[in-house]
Amino acid sequence: MNILLLGASPSRTSSSRALLADVGERLAGLGHHLSWLEVCDLPSQALLHADFHNADILAALAQVEEAEAVVIATPVYQASYTGILKVFLDILPQDGLKNKLVLPLAVGGSQSHMLAIDYALRPVLQALSAELVLPGIYATSAQLKGAGGQAYAVEAALATRLERGIARLHSESRRYYVDNKEFLHRTPSATAELALR
Ligand SMILES: Cc1cc2nc3c(=O)[nH]c(=O)nc-3n(C[C@H](O)[C@H](O)[C@H](O)COP(=O)(O)O)c2cc1C
Repeated sequence: MNILLLGASPSRTSSSRALLADVGERLAGLGHHLSWLEVCDLPSQALLHADFHNADILAALAQVEEAEAVVIATPVYQASYTGILKVFLDILPQDGLKNKLVLPLAVGGSQSHMLAIDYALRPVLQALSAELVLPGIYATSAQLKGAGGQAYAVEAALATRLERGIARLHSESRRYYVDNKEFLHRTPSATAELALR
């Protein structure tokens, strides 16, 4: 399956990015094809003005369109997902996540805002017509030792939730892209079935 890793932190030393890289590596190990998009790498003026003539913006939209699944990793900002992620989701077409599986990941400074995935992000993903938004995975920066230049390491309880989330995405990808022929014909890449074998 073609999976887009969508990073939504403005930070250069991002713990959510380290988490996304880890999840991507594990998905690659299961045979999935990955592409990566960091919202903060897009040209800011073009993004803010929704400039659909800008080549980088068009390429980013094409990356989303070509993906069969999207793993989104956002830091928690003001009890929600980041502003740059909102700006990017705003330029997607109304059904920009149609036929796609989505796995949301969020990293917050504390456990207090663990509902940010379900209260803030999930409704937007559903409104963009995602086929299936998987249960989100919330981490605190303390559970990831990657921030501030320390070596990346995942706390045991989080590691278990990550393994479950990745296994679920993998099994759903088989359910949709191997077992469900009707669904397969609606997807960006009808060759996705082959990619899983
Ligand atoms: C502007 C800003 C707002 C934040 N707001 C929250 C918040 O409301 N709740 C929370 O748990 N953490 C909050 N944090 C902490 C970040 O979510 C946390 O540091 C996270 O690990 C950052 O992810 P990153 O390293 O990928 O950028 C905030 C951080 C910043 C910079």
